[in-house]
Parts: sequence; C-alpha cells; structure tokens
Amino acid sequence: MIDLKVDFSKILGFVDQKEIDALQAEVTKSHQSIVQKTGAGNDFLGWVDLPSSIDEALLKSIEEDAARISKMADIFVVIGIGGSYLGARAVIEALNHNFSNLLPGECKHPQVVFAGNNLSEDYLADLIDVLDKRDYAMAVVSKSGTTTEPAIAFRILREHIEKKYGREEASKRIIAITDKERGVLKKLSLEEGYKSYVVPDDIGGRYSVLTPVGLLPIAVAGFDIRAMIEGAKAMRANSLASDVIANSPAAAYAAARTSLYRNQKTVEIMVGYQPSLVFFVEWWKQLYGESEGKENKGIFPAGVTFTADLHSMGQYIQEGERFIFETVISVEKPRRELSVPVDPQDLDGLNFTAGKRLCEVNKQAELGTLLAHVDGGVPNIKISVPAINENVIGQLVYFWEFACALSGYMLKVNPFDQPGVEAYKKNMFALLGKPGYEAQGAELRKRL
Ligand code: PA5
Repeated sequence: MIDLKVDFSKILGFVDQKEIDALQAEVTKSHQSIVQKTGAGNDFLGWVDLPSSIDEALLKSIEEDAARISKMADIFVVIGIGGSYLGARAVIEALNHNFSNLLPGECKHPQVVFAGNNLSEDYLADLIDVLDKRDYAMAVVSKSGTTTEPAIAFRILREHIEKKYGREEASKRIIAITDKERGVLKKLSLEEGYKSYVVPDDIGGRYSVLTPVGLLPIAVAGFDIRAMIEGAKAMRANSLASDVIANSPAAAYAAARTSLYRNQKTVEIMVGYQPSLVFFVEWWKQLYGESEGKENKGIFPAGVTFTADLHSMGQYIQEGERFIFETVISVEKPRRELSVPVDPQDLDGLNFTAGKRLCEVNKQAELGTLLAHVDGGVPNIKISVPAINENVIGQLVYFWEFACALSGYMLKVNPFDQPGVEAYKKNMFALLGKPGYEAQGAELRKRL
C-alpha cells in the first residue's frame, strides 16, 4: 500500500485541467519507454526493478557490516560526492534525531559524517581533529573510482587511519563501494583487502540510494533498510501498474510540473517544513537538476525550508518575478509531541496558540503560505505523506526517481547522463597541471 498523495488542484488557476489531461498520451509514451526499456539511456534503468530484486545475502551482509562498524567506531565517515553521498545523507538526516551529534552517549549507533564532497581544506582538517580523538571507520564511495574530490579525501584519510590503527587494522575499518571491476578504487581494495560492495553497472549515482551506496550508511546510522525497501517496492508496484495521471502519483507529478514548465514556470522550488528534510531537498535537486538540465532545457530545481526561509526567500516568492512554482512536502504527523504552554499573564499575547501542538501551528503556517503564494501567482503542487519513517522514505525515493524519468522523457532528454559535469573537471585538471592537459592549462591561465 502507498501512503503518498499528489494534489495539483492549486495549479489549476495557472494551467487548465484540459491541458494536463492532454498530456496523458505523452505520459503513457514515457511510461512505456521506461517499462519496455526503449528510451534514451536505457542501459541505466537498473533502479526500476531494484526494490523487488535486492538479494537477501546482500542485505544480510550490509546489516552485519553495520553491526560490526557499530562495535568498533563512534564515527562512520562516508567519502563520496553527488549521487555517491546525497541519498544516504538525505535519508539519515530525515530520520535522525535533529541533535544526535549533541547526544552521543545516548546514541547506540555511530555518527555518520560526510567527506569528499568538497575541496575545503578547513572542512577536512577540522574533521581530522575529531578523528584524532574518536574511534572511526569509513566507506569510500565512487562508482567510477576516479572522481577527484573523494579520491583526494580518501588519500588523506587513508593515511590518517593507517597511522592511527596500523595498516592491517585500518583495512578492516575501510569499506569500498565501487564498480565491480573497473577503476583505481577497485584495484586498491583488492590490493589492501578492503571489504567491498558493487555499484551495479546499470544504476547511475543519483539513482543509487537503494544500492549499498545508500543502504550501508543508512544501516550504520541504525535505520531499518528493509522497511525502506518495502516502501520503495510498494511505490514501484504502483508506478509500473498505472500511467494514468488520475491514479499514479508519479504520473500526476510529472504531468503537473511539465504543464507548468510549458507555461513559463521554469523554476520549481521544493518546500519542506522540517529542517530534517533539508538534505532530502538537496538530493531531489541533484536528481532533477542532473537529469533534466541539458540541451538548454529543464526546470531549475531550487529548495527552501519554511518557515525559516519565509523570512528570507518569502518576499521574492510572494512578489518577485513570476516564473516559479512550488512543490510542498506536506507531512501529516511529526515524530515528537510538544505543545505551546498556557501563560496566565499572556504578556506575549500568544494565548491564542496555548494548548496547541506545534505541528498544528506549523500546519496552519503551511496552509496560510500555500494560499498566500497561490494568490501571489505561484502555483503549488502538494506531496502529502502521513509521517517521515523508513517506509515512507522508500516510497518518496522511488516516487521521485520514477517521476524524474517520466518528466525527463517528456522533456525529450536523456535523464540518465550528465555530460555537462565534465566541463569544470577538464578546466580544473588543466589548471592543476595534470599530465596531458598542459596546452589547455596555458590557454586557461591567459584568460584568468
Ligand atoms: O549522479 C551521478 O552520476 C553523479 O552525481 C555521481 O554520483 C558523482 O559525480 C560521483 O561520481 P562517482 O560515484 O563516480 O565518484
């Protein structure tokens, strides 16, 4: 059973229902391209059947490694960039205690921290200060095994962990997640005897949360990966069974955002009302940005957290240029309970909220904002879920992946490649003096 619902009634003043209905034929065509594996990038459709085909032995091995790491480490460093870290971070932050790092004694599981997703000297040096003092283990995640940012972080942290524990013990504290045979990371893990997991050939980084790339860190953080897979499985069944806009959340979302894009709404702002969803929005931004932004086309994916950003971006959204639409992640029930106390003196004048749960106040903020933004010319799509838990997260992950493929095909791009990511790398290598890039380096330096 799926609990996720998509409501696009609040885009109807901006787009005609007839226009959305007219997209059904295109949705069906895109759906067939995914199911029959006939569309562009069809060698990267491994994620489609993944939730129902995950091997029991793989799950057991991940759970055993998670238990082993929990015994030996207070901190688990996940080295990776883009699709090799965002999914894990999104899920862990969505499910974790908001201040788990300040409650270390009470947490039975290692604190998962991330590295190799930037080139900041300060960031890595600060992390090393912590790793000097605490027991740790790490996963290095790179499908290609050649990405510069994680490769440099791994070289530095490998030296640190070997100095701290000795080479043999260090090799038990390192897990590599990479291609089954290619790449330097595979070679290194064979030579050093690291435990390794495979990123399947037919699954791209941003679609890899339900592979060991996401599952291992999520399990180490203490969350139920089987429940997450169950949620994804339910959403898969729904998404494959129906391409009808009225029945399928993925079809509804893809049709709604495509119709808005064709009506000059070129920026989609994903809105969360929980700070714990910030990285879920980051993961969504990567999924949609890398999948659709090509050939000078694509909706620009942005993100905000309300109510915080109502005090920063709210003004623009309400009254700025009218090229935006919002998609709101609406969560019915929080994990915790907290009410506004009664104050007999009512000096702050807040007794009209007294006795109300904070989630009720948050919900009224959500509903009030929705109407204000619609009135201000910003169409709203609502994605509702009953709560944030592993099962719902699994549903959300699969829903967004499937809808992304549908939308990408409706946009007539290949949603599974990312040719544009190479341009900065070539310039960076040239400027760093990588052998083979000398002429380019000289040309670039003249322009700086
Ligand atoms: O989604 C993608 O394919 C990318 O974001 C990659 O995940 C990212 O570039 C990292 O690549 P790799 O895992 O090969 O290091």
